[in-house]
Amino acid sequence: MRALLAVLGGLGVLGVALWLSASPAGAVAPSADAGAELAARWCAACHVVAPSGAGTDAAPSFTSIANQRSPDEIRAFLAKPHARPMRGFNLTSREIEDVTAYIATLHQKAER
Ligand code: HEC
Repeated sequence: MRALLAVLGGLGVLGVALWLSASPAGAVAPSADAGAELAARWCAACHVVAPSGAGTDAAPSFTSIANQRSPDEIRAFLAKPHARPMRGFNLTSREIEDVTAYIATLHQKAER
């Protein structure tokens, strides 16, 4: 019985360790605020980045991206070298997390 409890306890610790290591940028949570700033600075030239913002329709608005793509898809898109109009973007994983967090907030707003 004791041995069984020890094994179960060990599995619990392992589970927590795996869960912790699975969270992306370590202990620091992504910042949607930093993402919003980044978007306004680097993305607004082509995308409508604010929920009700005006802008160009040369690129999909961030609200429509939020509604059509999962955060995982957005991350994956931003991690790759970009499609032609967005070539040259080389975001750090931190920046990708932040801007993805920001885009995710637009999804909630659009649903209400
Ligand atoms: C030079 C113009 C331009 C800039 C600047 C730009 N984008 Fe884009 N982006 C586009 C265009 C055009 C598309 C649609 C065509 C495509 O998918 O490549 C696009 C597509 C995307 C998509 C994928 C949409 C989908 O269909 O899944 C994401 C996500 C995205 N942009 C995020 C960003 C972020 C974040 C920034 C700022 C760091 C940014 N873009 C800056 C032009 C731009």
